[in-house]
Amino acid sequence: MNPKYGLPKNLMGWVQQNADKLKPPVCNAALFQDGNYIINVVGGGNTRTDFHDNPTEEIFHQIRGTAYLEIWDRGRFDRIDLKEGDVWLMEPHLQHSPQRPDPNGLCFLVELKRPPNAIDSLNWYCPKCAKLVWGASMELKDLVADLPATYKRFYALSDAERTCKHCGTLHPGKDYAAWHAIRGGNA
Ligand SMILES: [Fe+2]
Repeated sequence: MNPKYGLPKNLMGWVQQNADKLKPPVCNAALFQDGNYIINVVGGGNTRTDFHDNPTEEIFHQIRGTAYLEIWDRGRFDRIDLKEGDVWLMEPHLQHSPQRPDPNGLCFLVELKRPPNAIDSLNWYCPKCAKLVWGASMELKDLVADLPATYKRFYALSDAERTCKHCGTLHPGKDYAAWHAIRGGNA
């Protein structure tokens, strides 16, 4: 038969065929293009400083290697580890920043197409006092296209615009290692 969304495919075979897309800087490819789910495979070898506020749930399955999520929850940072083989259902609006330093890492990630008027946000927090430095909200239509446009807006800010209004710390932009180093024992 000819099902609407295609026939089953071998996941690891697909991963091999799309290995180039799963490496930095993109690290992300859609396994299925249709339907109400956004089903991506995410590779490794990258870190980031944005926190994503998703109005819908996300399902993580860390197929290979490890990853972790920096969490911002009501003014405090926390961390959730994704060990190899872990599966996790994340609630809506839990602000998360996925860190995938393992270049061999592989994650099966399921999101939902956003309902009408649902708002996604990307937020960058001060590594010292955990207050918001800059953020942008959007009706997300295309996961691959819409988010990078917002990253570019943040990275283009001046040092003054990236300076925390509460404590005067300069947010180091896209450099997660520098961001994490400032955070140290502060939050
Ligand atoms: Fe601050």
